[in-house]
Amino acid sequence: MCKTILVTGSSGQLGTALMWALPAHGYHAIGLDVAASATTTYVGSFYDASLVRQVFTDNDISFVLHTGTLHTPHIETHTKQNFIDTNVSGTLLLLEQAVASGRCLAFIFTSTTSLFGRAFSSVPGQPAAWIDETVVPLPKNIYGITKIAAESMCELVHRQSGMPVLVLRTSRFFTGQDNVEETGWTTSKDDNRKVNELAYRRVDISDVVDAHICAMEKARGLGWGTYIISAPTPFSRDAETLRLLDGEAPTALRTILPAFENTFAKRGWSFLARLDRVYDSTKAIIELGWKPRYTFEAALAAIDEGKDWRSDLAVKVSQKVGPRRMQSHEPHTVLWTGVALKALDVSDSCALTKSYLEDVLDCCQWLTTVIIARCTDIKGRVESKLLAA
Ligand SMILES: NC(=O)c1ccc[n+]([C@@H]2O[C@H](COP(=O)([O-])OP(=O)(O)OC[C@H]3O[C@@H](n4cnc5c(N)ncnc54)[C@H](O)[C@@H]3O)[C@@H](O)[C@H]2O)c1
Repeated sequence: MCKTILVTGSSGQLGTALMWALPAHGYHAIGLDVAASATTTYVGSFYDASLVRQVFTDNDISFVLHTGTLHTPHIETHTKQNFIDTNVSGTLLLLEQAVASGRCLAFIFTSTTSLFGRAFSSVPGQPAAWIDETVVPLPKNIYGITKIAAESMCELVHRQSGMPVLVLRTSRFFTGQDNVEETGWTTSKDDNRKVNELAYRRVDISDVVDAHICAMEKARGLGWGTYIISAPTPFSRDAETLRLLDGEAPTALRTILPAFENTFAKRGWSFLARLDRVYDSTKAIIELGWKPRYTFEAALAAIDEGKDWRSDLAVKVSQKVGPRRMQSHEPHTVLWTGVALKALDVSDSCALTKSYLEDVLDCCQWLTTVIIARCTDIKGRVESKLLAA
C-alpha cells in the first residue's frame, strides 16, 4: 500500500511541486494550506491545533514534508509575532502531532540558506565565503531567526521522541520573474541572473523535490541532520578561487568552464564580477544520495541545444504561481488592485490587455491568501481563548 505524506504549504511553489510529483514516486499526498488551490486538501492553518489533530486522525500519515512558512516577502506585511506563531509554534505543533500519532516515520523540515545572513561579508574586498554545514548561521531578519528556532525545535523533538527529523536548508528556487528594482537586473536579463545563480546560490525546484524524496527515504538511517540543498557549484574551495570570486569571477569560471563565454556571448549575457558566497551541497549528495540534475553546466548545455535551462516542473510551477514581483510589493499591490478593480467596474469597454488582467488576478489571489491567513490566525486565537475561558 502506498504511504501517505502530509505536505504543508501545498498551495505554494514547493508545496505545489511536491503535490504534483509525489504520486509518480508511489506516494499518496495530502496538502494543508491557508490558501485554497487545486493541490490543497485541507484549507486552514498548521497553527490551528484542532485542524492539525483532525488531519492526523483522518489520515494514516507516514511522512510530513513541512514546507509552509511565512518568508521574505512577508517581512513587510506581517508582525514578528506572526512569524513566531507560524514558523516556530506552527512547526512545534506539527512535530508534536506527528509524534503523538505514533505512525509518522519521519518529518522533513524545509529551511533556508538565508539563515546564514551575516555569516559572511557582502562588502567587496573579502574573498567569497564557502558555506557548508559547518558554518554557524547568523540570521539577519525575523524570517531567518524563526527558521533557526524551528530547526532547533526539530532537533529537540527528535532527541526526545526518536522520530527521525531532517532539515533541508534550500537555496533560492523561486520560479517566477524577480523584482527588477530589488535585483537591478532587467526583465529580459532575468534568465541570465538565474543561470548565474545556479553556479553558487540557486537550485531548480525539481531538484528540491528530489532532495525531499531522498530525505524521506534516508531519514530512518540518519535520524537527525541538516543539509544544504543548492545546485552543485563548479567552483572549488581553494584560496585562489575564493580570492578571484571577489571581483574577477569570470576569470575563475573561465579556467574551469571556458565554453561558458561562447554560450553567454550568443545571448548577450554576462557573468557576475563578484560572488560573495558559494553554497556547498556535497553533504546532501553523499548522505542523502541526492542527484541534482539542473546544474550550471547542465544549463549551459541546454542553452547550447536551444532548450529551456529550467526543469519542466519549474516551468509548470511558474505558470501557476505567477511573477514574484507581486509578492515583493504587497502593500502597494493592495492599493493597486483596488484601483485596477475600480477601472474594471467603471468601464467594461476599456481595452485591457491580457497581461494586465493576469496581473490583477495575481493581486486578487494574493489578497485572498492574506485575508484567509489573517482570519485563520484570529480564529485560532479566539478559539483557544474560548477554550481557556
Ligand atoms: N522560494 C524560495 O526561493 C525559497 C528559498 C529558500 C527556502 N525556501 C523555503 O522553501 C519553503 C517553501 O517556499 P515557497 O517558495 O514554496 O513558499 P510559498 O510562499 O510559495 O508557499 C508557502 C505556503 O505556505 C502557506 N502558509 C503560510 N502560513 C501557513 C499556515 N499557518 N498554515 C498553512 N499554510 C501556510 C502559504 O499560504 C503558501 O501557500 C519555505 O519553507 C521556504 O522557507 C524557499
